[in-house]
Amino acid sequence: MNDSQAVIMVIEKKILTQLNKALKCSYSPYSKFKVAALIETTNGKTYAGCNIENSSFGVTICAERTAIGNAIIHGDRHFKRIYIMTPTEKFCPPCGLCRQAIAEFGIDIEIILVNQFSKIQKTSIKELLPLPFGTDNLEKR
Ligand code: THU
Repeated sequence: MNDSQAVIMVIEKKILTQLNKALKCSYSPYSKFKVAALIETTNGKTYAGCNIENSSFGVTICAERTAIGNAIIHGDRHFKRIYIMTPTEKFCPPCGLCRQAIAEFGIDIEIILVNQFSKIQKTSIKELLPLPFGTDNLEKR
């Protein structure tokens, strides 16, 4: 996956508005790197998230995981896709921890990266985490 694979696609205005709103909520005083995520359920609902940093850096929570938490606390856990947006030219793919967190809810989840020009790059959890650890690996003890 590289930036040249990016496609210019019209991203729904409603989605873009929600992503931009979440970007503004990003609490990132240490890295100054704002990330927004929007997870979409199989029935079309969306839940936003942003990164939340901490002075104890390891406590930081990524945007993808706050979006997942937002959906879960509202009783939704069947996801179709997740949008990840950063106000940068370069696309921001999910970190390893977030790939695992997304995979928990389905290896068919689509990942849509959005950059500052609203260009998008499509990928999937299958592509980014080809040999996932999952419930099947938890043998009965
Ligand atoms: N970050 C995310 O929110 N999602 C990712 O997948 C990658 C990294 C955040 C965490 C931290 O606040 C900042 O980006 C810099 O690492």
